[in-house]
Amino acid sequence: MIRWQNLWRFIPLFGLMMLLLTGCGDDTISTLRPRGPVARDQLFLMKLSFGIMLLVVVVVFVLYLYVLVRFRKKKGEDIIPKQVEGSHTLEIIWTVVPIILLLILAVPTVKYTFQLLEDHRDNKDALPVKVTAHAFWWQFEYPTLGISTAQDLVIPTNKKIAFEITSADVKHSFWVPSLGGKMDTNPGLSNVFYLQADEVDTFKGKCAELCGASHALMDFKVKSLDAAAFDQWVADMKAPSTVPADAKAGETLFKDNCLSCHAVNAQGLGAGPNLNGFASRELVAGILPHNDKSLHEWISDPQSVKPGARMPAFGPTPIEPIPGSKALEEQQIQDIIKYLNTLTLK
Ligand code: CUA
Repeated sequence: MIRWQNLWRFIPLFGLMMLLLTGCGDDTISTLRPRGPVARDQLFLMKLSFGIMLLVVVVVFVLYLYVLVRFRKKKGEDIIPKQVEGSHTLEIIWTVVPIILLLILAVPTVKYTFQLLEDHRDNKDALPVKVTAHAFWWQFEYPTLGISTAQDLVIPTNKKIAFEITSADVKHSFWVPSLGGKMDTNPGLSNVFYLQADEVDTFKGKCAELCGASHALMDFKVKSLDAAAFDQWVADMKAPSTVPADAKAGETLFKDNCLSCHAVNAQGLGAGPNLNGFASRELVAGILPHNDKSLHEWISDPQSVKPGARMPAFGPTPIEPIPGSKALEEQQIQDIIKYLNTLTLK
């Protein structure tokens, strides 16, 4: 009796845990709120397997409780019940039922496993995008459009995005929970799959494979635009930018110190993110709010923002100077920031 009373005490704890767990959720980064057909198909598989699991648990527990109550030893009863073993009917039931349940689970699982890995790179109606993961940022190339960008993946809605993903260094994992499950990026080989977004929105993306000190900071965004807005974005990315006279000093400094890694044109690729249209992005380094203070912090000492980042430091007192680091004057850093702020999309 005492043991049962103790069990009841856990109910408030379970209630609290349930509240805590159901509190998790953000519309732009939730597997449980799919925003495209791939994510919906995958959620269906999750619901199906969870449903079957729940059914089995309920049936087993009901039978268990029934037997526990029905065949209890009654007061004054002092006999050993009749010992039975081997029932063909029961054995067939508990062999056939799991087989049926496994088939119900296996057929759609196999179907979607192959379907969701279809290669749409040559599909005229799909948009091919090459993803390269770097410690700790993301590079996105659009081979058919002749553009490339970093950190913000821009896609058209209602169109299959045919991904070919790889890594420039260690193993990372590309994950946009709202649009579909994660896919590893492996150095030296490519994985192929596709995702699709229903509506115009911005989704959060994460690196889902422990890849180094700043793994948890390896975030990116996926912006879905309608067809016209997407075409406009492509045109804007390709439009030549003009540097205002008061940012020329910064441009020269950028060319001398940053251009060896950071391209600032439509197609450029490099050891660092392409900064074409950088001033129109919402974040600095994928995690800091886009303002001068963040830029200053990042340029001065990237290691203090993203430990393990490969970008050299340009401030006077970086916590851990890496090769290529070189202290610039405060004014020079300000000039570079001024130049970066001119890199807007038209
Ligand atoms: Cu890249 Cu974790």
